[in-house]
Amino acid sequence: MAKINQNFLNLQGSYLFSEIAKRRTKFIQDNPNAQIISLGIGDVTRALPEAVTKAMHAAVDELATVSAFRGYGPEQGYDFLVNAIIEHDYKARGIELASNEVFVSDGSKCDVGNIQEIFSQDAVIAVQDPVYPVYVDTNVMAGRSGAFSKETNRYENIVYLPCNAENNFKPSLPDRKVDLIYLCYPNNPTGMTLTKDELKVWVDYAKANDAIILFDSAYEAYIQEEDVPRSIYEIEGAKDVAIEFRSLSKTAGFTGVRCAYTIVPRGVKAKDENGNEVTVADLWNRRHTTKFNGVSYVTQRGAEAIYSAEGKAQIATLVDYYMSNAAIIRDGLKSLSLTVYGGVNAPYIWLQTPNGLDSWAFFDKLLSEANIVGTPGVGFGQSGQGYFRLTAFGSRENTEKAVERITKLSL
Ligand code: MLT
Repeated sequence: MAKINQNFLNLQGSYLFSEIAKRRTKFIQDNPNAQIISLGIGDVTRALPEAVTKAMHAAVDELATVSAFRGYGPEQGYDFLVNAIIEHDYKARGIELASNEVFVSDGSKCDVGNIQEIFSQDAVIAVQDPVYPVYVDTNVMAGRSGAFSKETNRYENIVYLPCNAENNFKPSLPDRKVDLIYLCYPNNPTGMTLTKDELKVWVDYAKANDAIILFDSAYEAYIQEEDVPRSIYEIEGAKDVAIEFRSLSKTAGFTGVRCAYTIVPRGVKAKDENGNEVTVADLWNRRHTTKFNGVSYVTQRGAEAIYSAEGKAQIATLVDYYMSNAAIIRDGLKSLSLTVYGGVNAPYIWLQTPNGLDSWAFFDKLLSEANIVGTPGVGFGQSGQGYFRLTAFGSRENTEKAVERITKLSL
């Protein structure tokens, strides 16, 4: 018999959002008449912007002709999209990037999950706690995590950076040297942000410790406040130490269409086993071209359209819609005297469970008594215990209904 990768057996339970889906399905089987409102997984519900669908239709028509047909495209993305990204997302904010620093892909989940492959087996990783589970699980699969302790609900070789009410969900620097630091801002799941000065502390740490920051910026479009950096490259020196992940999923409703990009500046270096410097972008390019054949032409034309004047306006409307939902949830929960975080620069609302309820107990209560699906905070890590995440990605009607149902609960 073939031998499996033993590391996979070190994963805990099932992937968080699969577990939630399983519980939801079971509840519906047992309660077929329940009108479930899902504010669990951060999946968008509004239609794609018209500028996007128009561009996609036109691209399909092109492919229907022999003269404009395209087969494999560049694995890193077509120039038209790469250039639009550089121009609108970076140059417009005073950040210079070269086209060989941009890698278009089919999702940030894949990119943040895959990036660890190019680093050494013994690289020490640091993650915020609570954390998007993909960062941890992919390092477990790679054999970097060490054993899992049921007592602490943590892996022994991963450095956890607790984010809680005491530190206003802003992690402290690691207390030992780490090689890779996963930061996510605006944060999933807490919805909190760092200021430029706060982010600079991390860039300075990475420089001083030869570490690399893996900066997940999937929710950048939701930033409303001025002092919140939209890109880590707004911080001086970050182009030497940070890789940035951006996604169109939440920005433009692409969760089903699939398009994202990763910035790997040429200045980001790591070393080989002989101590020689290696340009990380070269390795990422090697990996990307070996394992990925590029995002479809139709999708990339749709992605390009978000940078048109029409596209920008339509995206702003989308973001406003979801952020109004966030305000409805925040205000509704606050009026019940619940302690609520996030939802100001992010589409996630992070609440403290009432009466110190365990996160999963609150999940069950909300599901059975209000027929609402949310995400238990502890599913994102031990520091999420006693917290709960709701998303603002529902329809307005469902968001209002959900708040009304919660108001009627005895909490
Ligand atoms: C979430 O709910 O945390 C996200 O939707 C998951 C993802 O983007 O993969």
